[in-house]
Amino acid sequence: MTLLSLGYVGLSAPDLSEWADFGRNLLGLELADASTETLAFRMDDRRARLHVAAGDAAPHFGWEVADASALDAMAARLEARRVAVHRADAGLAARRCVREMIWFLDPDGNRVELFHGAEIAAAPFAPGRNIAGFRTGALGLGHAVLTCVDLPAQLRFYTEMLGFGVSDYCFSPFTAYFLHVNPRHHSLALVGTGVTGVHHLMMELQQFDDVGHGYDLAFDRGEDIGVTLGRHSNDYMTSFYVRTPSNVLLEYGWGGRIIDPARWQAEELTVGPSIWGHERSWLSDEGRAVARAMRVRNAAEGLRRPLQYLPGAAVPSVPQASTPQVESSITA
Ligand SMILES: [Fe+2]
Repeated sequence: MTLLSLGYVGLSAPDLSEWADFGRNLLGLELADASTETLAFRMDDRRARLHVAAGDAAPHFGWEVADASALDAMAARLEARRVAVHRADAGLAARRCVREMIWFLDPDGNRVELFHGAEIAAAPFAPGRNIAGFRTGALGLGHAVLTCVDLPAQLRFYTEMLGFGVSDYCFSPFTAYFLHVNPRHHSLALVGTGVTGVHHLMMELQQFDDVGHGYDLAFDRGEDIGVTLGRHSNDYMTSFYVRTPSNVLLEYGWGGRIIDPARWQAEELTVGPSIWGHERSWLSDEGRAVARAMRVRNAAEGLRRPLQYLPGAAVPSVPQASTPQVESSITA
């Protein structure tokens, strides 16, 4: 598989000061760079994982490849299939904090960027609030979920053209395909809504309690909780969703599932997208009723999934024996 992970995302917003506060004080991101036109946030050792531009520019999604030859091979593959590929000049690559980048549009018109050579920051990651950090590294920054006009064309493009693997899919209470490029259960999902857009981004915390603190802070700040606390049935993430100043939801979660892409078999998800919780404000009344009925059935049947242990995620200053995160072990 040529794509390695979701490396960075770019959004836009009318008010950057709102994002600076939201990113640091609620999400715990580090504000690495700020001008009147853009913000750059860090989540780890990289110089930037999230860019926010002032105004209403279209979002972009930066997928990492290994090196210059992998980037050239992807460009040639896309051009051979008549995709218009643009090569970023040095200035644009520098703004993305990468060595080289190409970009093109997917069938729904979303801007997709491929890059290699992400810049590493000189200083250690300094979170904007007291969190233990984000789970990134080889898994990438998290996942992105796109709403789609032409779901079949989008699915073909990401799987056949870009090499994503299908993790699973569902047809109720909405139609969605969950796709992977590495052991993170999904780095991208495509939802058929009839509208092109970004449904949400997901960021995964190293520590479960940091998600809970974020939930309290979101209520205290009067934020729009788009999806209440709950647990997903496919990637096992326990999370809530909050609306960002970009009017895009942000899933803030813990305990995501790791899969083995080489042995994974795609399957239909029939128990609904959530084991419990996750009341979705974005669904229609009818969709919410269907989702709730599925969760009531899950409760009746005692649907449970193993917790996902994160090696090395414990806070170093606290003795591990006194603060076990989970007792079960990782499952593929
Ligand atoms: Fe998600």
